Amino acid sequence: MKKITLILSLLVLLSVLAACGGGGSAPAAQPTTPPAAQQPAAQPVAAGDPVKGKESFATCAGCHGMDGKGIQGLGKDFTASEFVKGQTDEQLLAFIKVGRPATDPANTVGVDMPPKGGNPALTDADLLNIIAYIRTLQQ
Ligand code: HEC
Repeated sequence: MKKITLILSLLVLLSVLAACGGGGSAPAAQPTTPPAAQQPAAQPVAAGDPVKGKESFATCAGCHGMDGKGIQGLGKDFTASEFVKGQTDEQLLAFIKVGRPATDPANTVGVDMPPKGGNPALTDADLLNIIAYIRTLQQ
């Protein structure tokens, strides 16, 4: 009889230990949540949505063409643009908001690139969507 009591109490002890072990593993899974929640704050510029960008791109298509290949004597070709390739989304956003007048010595075609393509209603988010769309046109 004593042996059975001993075995039973050992079993109880084991199940208590197992419960503690199970409880201990739950908090270990938690630290993965906070870094994921912090990620958006670490990225100041969120990548745009190319599908929405295609809709807003109508503003730019008048000079750059709906296919982004540029229209002779107007906007430049995006598909082969080293400039676009070499710029971050943030830098392109800054460029598009300011544009580049024909009088700017850096202007290569002698035609105005108007601020925001001449559409002041475009928000930063709209422009980032457009930038995402332009990137899909790149070869
Ligand atoms: C009125 C015509 C016109 C419109 C509309 C226009 N652009 Fe432009 N864009 C130009 C011209 C001209 C240049 C070339 C300027 C130069 O030679 O430096 C240019 C250059 C650019 C460049 C630099 C390309 C390179 O390879 O150097 C980007 C990026 C750009 N435009 C984006 C846009 C976006 C985005 C829109 C729409 C929101 C837009 N443009 C609307 C005329 C236009």
